[in-house]
Amino acid sequence: MPLSFAKDIRPLFRDTPDVEEMKTFGLDLSSFEEVKASADAIYTTLADGSMPCDGAWPKDRIDLFKRWVDGGMAP
Ligand code: HEM
Repeated sequence: MPLSFAKDIRPLFRDTPDVEEMKTFGLDLSSFEEVKASADAIYTTLADGSMPCDGAWPKDRIDLFKRWVDGGMAP
């Protein structure tokens, strides 16, 4: 089964502070459409460790996000 935003990706983003803070910067991480539209930029910040700003994700989480992107970003 392909990775899905609702089941596999949305739970990686904390309601607070990830979703709440990033809404104030114009990116709703709880929205499938917005995460899909900004997936490359989001991946870049995850992979370079700049986001989330209180600590980089472990590699397996970053790889999971990348697999969702490469797999076609199912909802
Ligand atoms: C397109 C991708 C993203 C961009 C351009 C971006 C940009 C920013 C900027 C400019 C800030 C405020 C300045 C700072 O504290 O560094 C910020 C804050 C924050 N971002 Fe992002 N962000 C992105 C993705 C993400 C993602 C994917 C997460 C979580 C997984 C995240 C979590 C946060 C949090 C928690 C803060 C609040 C930091 C604080 O106030 O301590 N961001 N982001």
